[in-house]
Amino acid sequence: MAKYVMANLYDMLLYPFLKDIRKKTARIIIQLNPKSVIDICCGTGNQLEYLKNTNIRLTGIDISPAMLKAAKHIDCREQDAKNIQFPDKSFDLVMIQLALHEKSFDDQKKIIGEAYRILSDQGHLLIVDYEISEKTKPSSRYIITAIEFLAGKKHFRNFKEYHKNECTNKLINNNLLLPEKKVLIVGRAMALQIFRKQAKNSY
Ligand SMILES: C[S@@+](CC[C@H](N)C(=O)[O-])C[C@H]1O[C@@H](n2cnc3c(N)ncnc32)[C@H](O)[C@@H]1O
Repeated sequence: MAKYVMANLYDMLLYPFLKDIRKKTARIIIQLNPKSVIDICCGTGNQLEYLKNTNIRLTGIDISPAMLKAAKHIDCREQDAKNIQFPDKSFDLVMIQLALHEKSFDDQKKIIGEAYRILSDQGHLLIVDYEISEKTKPSSRYIITAIEFLAGKKHFRNFKEYHKNECTNKLINNNLLLPEKKVLIVGRAMALQIFRKQAKNSY
């Protein structure tokens, strides 16, 4: 019960703050013109909502039944991002938003490997996540660090580790996923990045 309340609270508290990012992300996705999109760790499916008036086939996966219960009218399924139950090359665009920073490096690698596997040849990987650096507005840095601290010990350790590993820099193999675009957003505290899958068989 508490988990379901938390999922709805997550929607109410966070989504007004994320509205501009959602809109920007949706615009970029529409420009890339994919036929199919999967949101890995989709939470309540809020980003997919911004795409529901398009012809794109939309899918989300998340491990939390409580988050998924709030995902209405969209094909969101309970699956582990480290072991995705879709065949190779199933989607033209794979996105991962605000999820990598809270995982261990090993889990991040598994998730990126799965994202690569289910991505069609020349498909796009879109990542939105924190990127706190000297370029970040101090107020954004303090607020985000406080939120991550309050999220718990393990969460905060992974958040710090993510930055120690230079966010996606050590994680993404650019021979397999070629960087195409990077925009700093939210007081330069987050990065929206797009990579294009290169023709290779496995990550
Ligand atoms: C911070 S939330 C972000 C949700 C959504 N991407 C967004 O932008 O609002 C992280 C999400 O990752 C999900 N998650 C955590 N570990 C996962 C896993 N191994 N497989 C799938 N989802 C996972 C959580 O349940 C949660 O909904």
